[in-house]
Amino acid sequence: MTLASLQFQLRDEQATVELGGRLAKALGKGGAVVFLQGTLGAGKTTLTRGVLQALGHQGAVKSPTYTLVEPYQLGDRGVFHFDLYRLGSPEELEYMGIRDYFLDQNLCIVEWPERGESVLPGPDLTVDLSASGAGRLAVFTASTERGHAILKAIFMGPNLSAMEPNSTQAEP
Ligand SMILES: Nc1ncnc2c1ncn2[C@@H]1O[C@H](COP(=O)(O)OP(=O)(O)OP(=O)(O)O)[C@@H](O)[C@H]1O
Ligand SMILES: [Mg+2]
Repeated sequence: MTLASLQFQLRDEQATVELGGRLAKALGKGGAVVFLQGTLGAGKTTLTRGVLQALGHQGAVKSPTYTLVEPYQLGDRGVFHFDLYRLGSPEELEYMGIRDYFLDQNLCIVEWPERGESVLPGPDLTVDLSASGAGRLAVFTASTERGHAILKAIFMGPNLSAMEPNSTQAEP
């Protein structure tokens, strides 16, 4: 079975953090490119915090709004948290040396990826966050084989208290 997409209803901030942890576990040891889409305040940085903490990061998670990228070394893996909200033009990514970040073994998590379209490499996995009542809805979509494997591992993970998977779609 290949999962095309997977949705979670996230009733509070803690559920978003937990979902990030679930994503981190599903990554296994490899790298990935994860796009986080959604409007201002949708929960992208909160989800990233969950990923980073589950991978062993202690302490606060800065939003790299002005620096565009915040690097971490967690275990054997380079993790790069991008926030492209303030990107002037996609070409700025070339000046940043974007290709040096998007290596196979690295985990790159990108907020506001649409600002870097045309220069950014494509994602393995996209998470779309949106408001849903007082909480949030997270929709995962896989775009590569690696993304599909991660999606499947997320699906197979344990059910967590404040996180309700409420729909899955399987490709034939
Ligand atoms: N599931 C949830 N239910 C309710 N509130 C949530 C949920 N997840 C996160 N939040 C809250 O949403 C607010 C904004 O979160 P966050 O900073 O992660 O958004 P963002 O998408 O990164 O925004 P920006 O585009 O400005 O970077 C925070 O106050 C956070 O606590
Ligand atoms: Mg943010």
